[in-house]
Amino acid sequence: MRILFVSSEAYPLIKTGGLGDVAGSLPRALLDLQLDVRLIMPAYAVALGQLTETNILAQFSEGTDTVTLREGQLPGSPLKVWLVDAPGYFDRPGNPYLDSNGEPWADNAERFALFCRIVTRLALNQAGLNWMPDIVHCNDWQTGLVPALLELSAQRPATVFTIHNLAYQGLFPADNVQKLGLPASWWSHHVLEFHGQLSFIKGGLVFADRINTVSPGYAREIQTAEFGNGLDGLLRHRSDVLSGILNGIDTEEWNPATDPLLESHYDANNLSGKQTNKRALQTALGLPRKPRTPLIGLVSRLVSQKGIDIILDAMPGLVKLPLQLVLLGSGDRALETRLITLARQHPNKLAISIGYDETLAHRIEAGADMYLMPSRFEPCGLNQMYSLRYGTVPIVRNVGGLADTVTDTSAKTLANGTANGFIVNTDDSLALLKTIKRALRRYRDKAQWQQLQTTGMQQDFSWRNSAQEYLTLYRHARQSNPKSVFNTE
Ligand code: ADP
Ligand code: GLC
Repeated sequence: MRILFVSSEAYPLIKTGGLGDVAGSLPRALLDLQLDVRLIMPAYAVALGQLTETNILAQFSEGTDTVTLREGQLPGSPLKVWLVDAPGYFDRPGNPYLDSNGEPWADNAERFALFCRIVTRLALNQAGLNWMPDIVHCNDWQTGLVPALLELSAQRPATVFTIHNLAYQGLFPADNVQKLGLPASWWSHHVLEFHGQLSFIKGGLVFADRINTVSPGYAREIQTAEFGNGLDGLLRHRSDVLSGILNGIDTEEWNPATDPLLESHYDANNLSGKQTNKRALQTALGLPRKPRTPLIGLVSRLVSQKGIDIILDAMPGLVKLPLQLVLLGSGDRALETRLITLARQHPNKLAISIGYDETLAHRIEAGADMYLMPSRFEPCGLNQMYSLRYGTVPIVRNVGGLADTVTDTSAKTLANGTANGFIVNTDDSLALLKTIKRALRRYRDKAQWQQLQTTGMQQDFSWRNSAQEYLTLYRHARQSNPKSVFNTE
């Protein structure tokens, strides 16, 4: 089966969050299942710079633009990456979506519409490459126009659209329908209109043969008004083709027994190296080197989704507890400022690093005792899985993929061996504080704590099972494609 995997970011070429991790690892797991996979993404300056060698596969004009299709190889893997090189749109420094002021690039609609048009041409084998995918697997709003544009053809490959985060929808002013040359008939709330705006994500949600999201829990939640971001009605309408597949993680990249970024290696049979990492982290961040003081870690985009403001509200209570807190993140400027101010007031308790730092992220996962993730919603969440694998006990909200991966600690779950973390049931600072106190009490019992750590470390979060589920999803998509070019099984 041939798969064209479409994403606006992929680790290690470029990453702003979990989508990058998934696009950098799921296609490789699909290769292991003997599928013929190509990953396609925009040729951002940063991404191109990571590739030592690329071949030009094709060149086309799209409107007034000349676009080059380059092929490279994802570093450290045999996976072929196709890069859509349109310098006017993608040859810019920094973040793929935001300018240096943290504002969306003003021409994002044009940029990702162009990307989608090129993907559509390739998906229809219209670039002279003699390669036509059976499945076009789109991810998030940046790729949403692909299933819609493909629908304009009499025959097309099957389409799968994965929702990584329904809060980001790619909404643009109405005049873009004309500017982008989209069919006028799409301007209807049955198609791409969303409350007077053009919605890219609706292209995927309305037209894809199959829709899925990144955990079974979030697949249920997005069909409710509370988590549906105004799209729950449409998603309920399409519930017969909507499912949830839990993300896997790259178990080589995130392995405490071999991670080259760590001070010391460890595994479930011998956790002593974790202490060394804790000490190194305390030293590096200027915290008192106290081995028995519980150290709580957090690595996150600083946005409302992640509940950072809930942590800030809990701070007066938190700083009175015997603990240290290490946070790495960037995003909302107001949250950044509040965090920095607090860290200055409590230098022995709080260490805040503003920015994006892959190395420090690994060192926090390894050096912390607990990991805090009080998200208001969480489609899947990868950091709680990294934490479980690193023996860093997660404290999470009971939402989405967090609830699907973390089992709260109680007498019962300790007895049956499933306890691996702590769950907060509401999104208020009092409940958070109470749960953190509950975790601190358990931390004092060394044997019990070690049980929590090893339970998490022994869980299988590899892509193996989930990649198999994607294969089944692809088969279903192929069967339900009414415009198939191929004979279906
Ligand atoms: P989301 O995609 O919503 O941001 P996930 O938990 O799925 O959340 O994935 C976030 C990914 O981004 C993780 O790999 C995490 O380590 C990484 N990450 C987030 N912020 C930073 C940062 N400031 N520095 C380094 N890595 C970060
Ligand atoms: C999104 C979600 C996150 C998920 C990631 C990868 O960014 O916010 O929960 O893990 O996508 O699917």
